[in-house]
Amino acid sequence: MLRIPLRSGDFSESLAKALLKLKLCFSLIMSTPSNSPRKVFVTTALPYANGVFHIGHIMEYIQADIWVRYQRMRLRGEDRLYFVCADDVHGAPIMLKAEAEGMAPQELVNKIAATRPKCLNGFLISFDHWHSTESPENTELSRDVYRKLKARQLIYGKTIEQFFDPVKNIFLPDRYIKGECPRCHAPDQYGDACEQCSAVYNATELIDPRSTLSGASPVLKSSEHFFFRLSDPQCLEFLREWVKGDRLQGEVTNKIREWLGHDGEESKIVDWDISRDAPYFGIEIPDAPGKYFYVWLDAPIGYLASLKARLAQENIALEDFLGGADIEQYHFIGKDIIYFHTLFWPAMMKFSGAPYHIPDNIFVHGFIMFSGEKMSKSRGTGINPELYLDFGLNAEWLRYYFAAKLNDRVEDLDFNPDDFIARVNSDLVGKYVNIASRAAPFVQKYFDHHLGKNFADLPIVQETRGEATTLAELLEKRQFSAAVRRIMELADCMNAYWDQKAPWTLAKRFDTLSDAERADLHDTCSAALEVFRLLTLYLKPILPRLAGEAEQFLNIASLAWSDADVPLPMGHRVNIYQHLMTRVDGKQIDQLLEAQAKQQIQKSEPEAKSETASAMINIDDFAKVDLRIGKILNAESIEGSDKLLKITVDIGEDKPRTVFAGIKKSYSPEHLIGRLTPIIVNLAPRKMKFGVSEGMILAASSTDSGIYLLQPDAGAAIGMKIK
Ligand code: MSP
Ligand code: ZN
Repeated sequence: MLRIPLRSGDFSESLAKALLKLKLCFSLIMSTPSNSPRKVFVTTALPYANGVFHIGHIMEYIQADIWVRYQRMRLRGEDRLYFVCADDVHGAPIMLKAEAEGMAPQELVNKIAATRPKCLNGFLISFDHWHSTESPENTELSRDVYRKLKARQLIYGKTIEQFFDPVKNIFLPDRYIKGECPRCHAPDQYGDACEQCSAVYNATELIDPRSTLSGASPVLKSSEHFFFRLSDPQCLEFLREWVKGDRLQGEVTNKIREWLGHDGEESKIVDWDISRDAPYFGIEIPDAPGKYFYVWLDAPIGYLASLKARLAQENIALEDFLGGADIEQYHFIGKDIIYFHTLFWPAMMKFSGAPYHIPDNIFVHGFIMFSGEKMSKSRGTGINPELYLDFGLNAEWLRYYFAAKLNDRVEDLDFNPDDFIARVNSDLVGKYVNIASRAAPFVQKYFDHHLGKNFADLPIVQETRGEATTLAELLEKRQFSAAVRRIMELADCMNAYWDQKAPWTLAKRFDTLSDAERADLHDTCSAALEVFRLLTLYLKPILPRLAGEAEQFLNIASLAWSDADVPLPMGHRVNIYQHLMTRVDGKQIDQLLEAQAKQQIQKSEPEAKSETASAMINIDDFAKVDLRIGKILNAESIEGSDKLLKITVDIGEDKPRTVFAGIKKSYSPEHLIGRLTPIIVNLAPRKMKFGVSEGMILAASSTDSGIYLLQPDAGAAIGMKIK
């Protein structure tokens, strides 16, 4: 494409332009320490591979993708940028979920990995590579980092006591232990904190703890774990130095300062337990058979593993890329994983030494909310990204909406359907796309697709072009909402100019126009298209597909940021205009939300089941309950309990079972002996105060009446299955 230089205006104008260029150069120099090529490495958090993407993931990818696309528009010659991600596959939850689904962890992980491309492509997320933390690269790098930290005396072993599930033969992470809160006595609280009173405690303090995996009561068992000396003075000193300046967002810095302790305050940092015992789905620790890296050690190293795999495609060694002062390393994450990324991760990189690089910035975003509420998978609120695409909703509507709401702070972002519709329809389509759809028909009809001569320096064009630097700064700083607002103001100006010029009045008597009038009409329409080109350029990181179509229409090469200064040449020929974007129909959103609610009922996730007691189950669900006829051999009261009876039941097994039943108020023990009763025999054993209950006797009851045992008809015998 032919690029003509800017026509020079008067002196002050060219001085202003020179100054502007200088400012631009200056800011470029500021962001890159030298003139050598930029090497930029950007990541988003690695999603856990135990589930498909939710809208929170997509929001994070869109935020990072907009920033990356902006950066790419500014790259020069030898500059390189890599934007990568991967599945975070290790850890107990994934291992246990796979087991519950009757597959190997890798099988589950593969199943989830296969679902990724649809959403990534669908939402136009331009990762250069997608990897997995279960990969040769990650194994090698994780072990390398570990060895380097160990060589610097930052790793040590210590024997600790932990809850262990004697049925499942596995050490229990806190979230797999439940019991009564030691503070407020709320039942059914997790092993680390109480959701009722917010108390934080050790799992060992829970009253009547049990494993959520087997129902068994956990036992304490000791084992050697490896620790990273995060509380070492050299680590603390490094981190206190690292968080200085504006490397991190204000809110994040404040939080970390609290942890690190400032102004002579003591730090709250403790050493970090980086090992887990078999069985564990993870990377085995060198020279420590049966010990694995805790998932949060190998997960961030997965960033590097993904980069390494991507670089290998170009025969570039990771060490070569990471080495040198010019590398820039950025991580986009959500607010829930700040601790890992601003303490462990920089410290790990710092003390592993070359070739590792300490991250330059961690960009933290808030959570997505729905009309003011937290999204809930069980209630089917929020937007399901896959269904969004399946229902034919335009990915760029969502990209635009998120951009219009995102800023550089750690704020939650609210998705509101009416707001979504309004912004897309009245701003994106009504203001920006409108400019092209208004001007194109004139250029087509009256000027045979060609532009005029003197449009590029009209004030409306200059004003729009003059915003390039400001907008660059806003995009650079991730102040997307401010950028979108400014872009829409520019579109407003253009539309107002169009209305004021009212080119349709001249067009009506086109054949009788003087040369000057004809040139004026031509320049108005051409200016509109030049403004449209500029707005397209500014919006391109947000709307890459639409920008591509606009470039096609404008008959220009792919826009780079520097093209802001290069207007369409005079007499340039544009292509036939086809409508660029339709409006959202409110019904589409309603349909989507309805479909999500339906899908939710069908799935009837465990979370949902407990909310509605009588949710539908199918025959397979019912078949999971092993109901048998049992004969009560003995029943006795228990000292210290006015509710429970201890009952011994023969269900045709070698040994009778012991069951504790809360029926003392309705039945005296002697009336029970010899009775037949239905009993659930595959209920997980439950540790109670007086012993382990190995089943459950069925009885009818309601809140305001007594309890009534069930009695089979004559002929039913011990051990018969109830179906
Ligand atoms: N696997 C870890 C990250 C390891 S990074 C080395 C993890 N995975 S995650 O799937 O739970 O979350 C991935 C990203 O999505 C995180 O940055 C998280 O903050 C983000 N989000 C999860 N739920 C979110 C919302 N509701 N809203 C916005 N982002 C959210 O954490
Ligand atoms: Zn409590």
